[in-house]
Amino acid sequence: MIRSTQYTLNARLYERLPRRTFLPFACLLLALTSVAAQSEQAHTKDISGTWVAKTQTPMGDLEIVYELKVQNGRITGTQRLPFGDAPIVASKFDGDRFELTIELESFGDTQKATAKGKIVGDTLEIAPAFPKPPEGAGGPGGAPPAMFSSSMVFHRGKPTPSNRAPAVDYNSLPKIQLPALHSVLYNGLAATPPMGWNSWNKFHTNINDHTIREIADAVASGMRDAGYQYIIIDDGWQGQRDDSGRLQPNSNFPDMKALADYVHSKGLKLGIYSSPGPRTCGGFEGSYGQEEMDAKTWATWGIDYLKYDWCSASRVWKDRQMQAVYQRMGDALRATGRQIVFALCQYGRANVGDWGASVGANSWRTTGDISDSWVSMSSIGFSQSSWAPFARPGHWNDPDMLEVGNGGMSTTEYRTHFTLWAILAAPLIAGNDLRNMSPEIMGILTKKEVIAVNQDKLGRAGERLSKNGDVEVWVRSLDAGAYAVAFFNRGLTPAPGSLRWTSLEIDHTPKVRDLWQHVDVPSSADGFTVSVPGHDVVLIRVSP
Ligand code: GLA
Repeated sequence: MIRSTQYTLNARLYERLPRRTFLPFACLLLALTSVAAQSEQAHTKDISGTWVAKTQTPMGDLEIVYELKVQNGRITGTQRLPFGDAPIVASKFDGDRFELTIELESFGDTQKATAKGKIVGDTLEIAPAFPKPPEGAGGPGGAPPAMFSSSMVFHRGKPTPSNRAPAVDYNSLPKIQLPALHSVLYNGLAATPPMGWNSWNKFHTNINDHTIREIADAVASGMRDAGYQYIIIDDGWQGQRDDSGRLQPNSNFPDMKALADYVHSKGLKLGIYSSPGPRTCGGFEGSYGQEEMDAKTWATWGIDYLKYDWCSASRVWKDRQMQAVYQRMGDALRATGRQIVFALCQYGRANVGDWGASVGANSWRTTGDISDSWVSMSSIGFSQSSWAPFARPGHWNDPDMLEVGNGGMSTTEYRTHFTLWAILAAPLIAGNDLRNMSPEIMGILTKKEVIAVNQDKLGRAGERLSKNGDVEVWVRSLDAGAYAVAFFNRGLTPAPGSLRWTSLEIDHTPKVRDLWQHVDVPSSADGFTVSVPGHDVVLIRVSP
């Protein structure tokens, strides 16, 4: 699986490589080339086996593995990256040179890309298949590293041992009968957007029991009182299935039940992560065909929240089958009798706002992955207005987790990020290292009056009211006839933002409170005008 932020590896190695566009004429080209390959059979060298290349980059180690099988002039097998596998679906051999067509997967789309290789003595030189950068890619982080278009030297060898599951042969997967659609009963949870912490944005798959306990300790000594509740273990906890098919955690998580007990003893709840596909996005064991057993296992451990990520399911099903696929897990969770928040992660595909609640979901992702940059955060956050009608108590739009405190944005920008997520009624799932954060970051994450907007019991999401140059005014209706109004400045220099009360259908002078400054501010009979610094926000509560 190859997705833009999966490129983050340890840091932001691949951060800005997004999904690519599939080029239909590539199919024709590949069809022609595979015919040519047949005629090369006689000359084909046997490069069957496991080939490994490792490279160090300033931002982390990268290991790429090819598992190749040469038969009848064709090369089959898998390209394996630290964040998932991609099958080789066609090949071409020409003397010492070869081309592999790799089927990559990116946020629910599969696309073919070519890896070109050459036999050089006992080695292979291959330029691996990565998604192409998007149009205009680069942004503040610059262009993607050159290594993505250059060759690496592969030696026969063994990959570094990992807890990832072996490659899947998608052609011989057992078939699953999808159920007829019905409505899974609402579990009664998430009356307001879930709040908590998730391991992915900071730690990726480098997680273990010890870190999760320390994070729980940190939440219990501060953030819990501000409303943070769920400690969510994202991808990378999984081991193998035992003889009875029960999924086991890997050795980094020696006893999940004991971990859940610990988290519960702190007055918190524990979340976990899986996929409806055979593999998670990180290449770990998924829940394909084992939904009931996995749900039961998690319930036995004491799990309170499931993030369920489409990932390799896109190699098995079409988007139009997604609702039935998610319903299988919705039913399975329901059947456990345990109260488990069900968080869908399918990047906003397949009109999920229309059916998410019917599969028992408490939230659904509306976008691809966020990364820790102003460009990523603001392009996701400010594009959420049209999702607003789908949010309601128990069922929320999820524009992805918070990057607040991860270091790629300024304190001002993180305040804007947090405000936007509050206005959107988005889950507030922190993603930074809570054991070690500055008072400013802690101050943002625990700002009570801003959190009160996010957690407002009316459960309506905010929408953009106006856009004037770089300044956007967003409004969220609150309980008791009040409004939260945010004046965002997406530009770099200070700019004025204003609002007339009539646009909120208020015909008198309302009470106005600045929620970041924590003060009541004088108001006029007409409206409100304020100067907003670059990349900053002014958030007010208007009470008629
Ligand atoms: C996807 C999700 C991320 C994270 C990773 C884990 O990219 O969108 O939030 O869960 O998978 O592999």
